[in-house]
Amino acid sequence: MSESNRPDPQVKDLDDSENVSTNPSGNRPFIEVLQATMSRRRVMAGGLTAAAFGFLAPSVLARRRDDDDDFDDDDDDRRERRGRRDDRPLLNFQPVSLSDFANAPEPGRQPVISEDYEYDILIPWGTPLKSGIPEYTGDPTTRPSADDQADMVGIGHDGMTFFPEKARRRRSNHSGVLCINHEFGVNTHVLGKVDPETPDDVRLSQHAHGVSVVAIAKGFGDKWDVVIDAPQNRRIHVNTDVDFSGPVAGSALLANAADNPFQGTVNNCSNGFTPWGTYLTCEENFNGYFGTNNGDPIGGFDTLQDEAYRRYGFSQNGFGYGWQTQDPRFELANPDYANESNRFGWVVEIDPDDPDQRPVKRTALGRFKHEGAEVTVGRGGRVVVYMGDDQRFDYIYKFVSAGNWKAMRAKGMSPLDEGRLYVARFDDDNTGEWLELTIDDPVLAERFVSQEEVLTYARLAADLLGATPMDRPEWISVAPDGQVYCTLTNNSQRTVADAANPLAPNPDGHIIRWRDSRRFTGRKFVWDIFVIAQDTHGTEESFSDPDGLWADPDGRLFIETDGGQQDGLQDQLLVADTHTREIRRLLVGVGGDEITGITVTPDRRTLFCNSQHPGNGDPAVTNFPAPTDGVTIPRDCTFVVRRKNGGIVGS
Ligand code: FEO
Ligand code: CA
Ligand code: CA
Ligand code: CA
Repeated sequence: MSESNRPDPQVKDLDDSENVSTNPSGNRPFIEVLQATMSRRRVMAGGLTAAAFGFLAPSVLARRRDDDDDFDDDDDDRRERRGRRDDRPLLNFQPVSLSDFANAPEPGRQPVISEDYEYDILIPWGTPLKSGIPEYTGDPTTRPSADDQADMVGIGHDGMTFFPEKARRRRSNHSGVLCINHEFGVNTHVLGKVDPETPDDVRLSQHAHGVSVVAIAKGFGDKWDVVIDAPQNRRIHVNTDVDFSGPVAGSALLANAADNPFQGTVNNCSNGFTPWGTYLTCEENFNGYFGTNNGDPIGGFDTLQDEAYRRYGFSQNGFGYGWQTQDPRFELANPDYANESNRFGWVVEIDPDDPDQRPVKRTALGRFKHEGAEVTVGRGGRVVVYMGDDQRFDYIYKFVSAGNWKAMRAKGMSPLDEGRLYVARFDDDNTGEWLELTIDDPVLAERFVSQEEVLTYARLAADLLGATPMDRPEWISVAPDGQVYCTLTNNSQRTVADAANPLAPNPDGHIIRWRDSRRFTGRKFVWDIFVIAQDTHGTEESFSDPDGLWADPDGRLFIETDGGQQDGLQDQLLVADTHTREIRRLLVGVGGDEITGITVTPDRRTLFCNSQHPGNGDPAVTNFPAPTDGVTIPRDCTFVVRRKNGGIVGS
């Protein structure tokens, strides 16, 4: 949710939830304050040095080489240096210039794409996954029924992964399964009213959230479409049965007196995928779906749960969805469901090929407002999962599996169930340390009684370890040269700068990157700032509020935005050359939308990305993806983006 697009009160509520810090820890471990301007000059200059020397300033590099901790100079580094010797520019497309956008036929009402590219639209909200379900096309006089919505594409398109069909050991560029998150849709958009009035209203809202698993294929005229009734097609929503796994499974922290089954996933934001072919969906602003009609639930600080309610941002009205008025699971003051809220805030694993699989909540990855889960394979074949906790002054985490992922799976174990969870501390000398969230740490043992508590209340544990409060960590992407990029979308309430968050306030965000020791698995890292959004304003590279992110295998960084853009723009998809730092604009969305979610076919000649909450649901702003008529309800949908010459996307 963006900071500046706040056309209706419920959107504002959601916005505020991310933007209002709930972190009272006062963690400022490196409060050597830098003047914002000085700092910006320094990071940009440092960045150029870093580009010339392969990310690290020479002094840092020399120091790190002397350390015990090992910064691998591995094959990927060599590959990157090879790539740099190759002088072919990474970005060859004609960008959408500021004047191209301003002079487009319907800027803000319809998207604008580079003249070298074209797009189609796929799976708008209301697309049936099964035959016999009527399509919802944005008729303002009606909405889908709750039952039909459970067999339709939901709303709030966000993170997604394309899993290509495998035929004769080849990965298809023409067909596969798309797993896509449905982060949220406000009541005015989904229900056409502010408050739910019946249990069915709440069920419609709940069914519009979650995940779609949908088979798609390229058909006539190279147009992609849903394979209706494909065996993989399924909706996972707030009332779908799920399982818990890892250290918190079986814990009393998840038990309710009502003995209700484990159900549902909500506010599915960004995503990840594993080397073994599963999809990870991440629960972000889960707090906003709970509320109470029985007074303030967040009374004192008598219990850890009370403290957690506050630290995770629960409140009497939540985001105004009103689910608690019709569904006791979401009533915070109902003693029968006292621990229902602890069942949300996790990373959830989904098998795209098995429609009968119950999604599994992987508790070893901790409970916080998960933006995404970027998985890579590190030293010894261990999987490493990078995760942002998107709220003002919250943290960046990583998980490292206990062993080699193939060996663990061969023993019937999930690599996501056993391992170590860390939170990042960024030091002001461009180094940093991953701090382990373990009950074996005496500081945590003083506050918590078990690892179950440490993981369920991960934010509280991270506070005690002295993690660095960041400017809203959103997406993380691992580049093939070993650098890890993270968007810090904005923080207009920062009053004290530090080196990693160098602007106070920081209304437009920045992108930070780091390299971990021991090939992703170590506790040490070195970091620098890749770009500060404010520095692009007034130029053709203008963007604000970076959010979605993908580092491609060639050294390009795809940047998606969510927030008020400057220079007359709307939210956009841009491509950066990580070597030269040049940025080109590929696509501009419509008024009120956010461009998010990114995945490609194996040949990278088709890219999928999303328009989330176009017009914030208001047909007076846009009717996209319908033609402009001033009436049709705009619907979240997926762009299918291709180069007209058939080349690799971004090139
Ligand atoms: Fe769901 Fe922080 O974006
Ligand atoms: Ca955002
Ligand atoms: Ca969003
Ligand atoms: Ca986001």
